[in-house]
Amino acid sequence: MPTSAESKSIFLTGFMGSGKTTLGKLAAAQLELIFFDLDEEIELCTQQTIAELFAHGELYFREHEHRVLFDLLSETSEQPCLIALGGGTFIHPANQPLIPPERIIFLDVPFPVLEQRIAACAHRPLGREPHGLKRLHEQRFPLYSRAATTLALSVDDDLIRATEKLTACMRELLKTGIRDKSRE
Ligand code: S3P
Repeated sequence: MPTSAESKSIFLTGFMGSGKTTLGKLAAAQLELIFFDLDEEIELCTQQTIAELFAHGELYFREHEHRVLFDLLSETSEQPCLIALGGGTFIHPANQPLIPPERIIFLDVPFPVLEQRIAACAHRPLGREPHGLKRLHEQRFPLYSRAATTLALSVDDDLIRATEKLTACMRELLKTGIRDKSRE
C-alpha cells in the first residue's frame, strides 16, 4: 500500500474552481512533470462521469475516488508527478494517510471568485447548491490549510502570473524535498 512517506509526487488541493486542473497542467508542462487530474482518472477508470457517480450518492463517489487515488499512487510511486486532487479529496479522512501534507500546495482563491467560476460551470454536482457553497468553503478551509504550502491567488493574478507563482512553489518543493511546517 502506498503511504504518505513513499509518495514523491506534488499534490494540488483547494476548493472547486481554484484552478487545480488549469494551472496544474500549465505548471507541470513547464517543469516537465507528468500531470494527472484525479477527476479525469476517476472518469477513465470507471467509464462514468463524476455526475453519474454522484447520482448514486456522494459516498459512492468517494469510494471510487479513494480507490482510483490509491491505484494512481501505487502506479506512480517511482516518479514524482503533479496530481490535481478533487476539491473534496484531501478532506475525506480515508485519503489523508495517502497524501502527505508536506507535499501539498493549497490554491487559496478568494471565495467570491470561486463562486463566480462555479456558477459559470454546470458540471460539478456540489456546485449545483449555490446556497451551501459558502458554508462548505468555511468547513473545508481549515483542512486545506493543513497543506504545508498555501499559494494565495488574487483576482489580479491572471493565468500567466498564477502559473508563474505555482511553478515557483513547485520548484521550491522539488528542490527542498519535504517541507516540515512544524519547524517554521
Ligand atoms: C468535489 C470537487 C470536484 C469533484 C467532485 C467533488 C468536491 O473536483 O471531485 O465534483 O467535493 O469539492 P474539482 O475541485 O476539480 O471541481
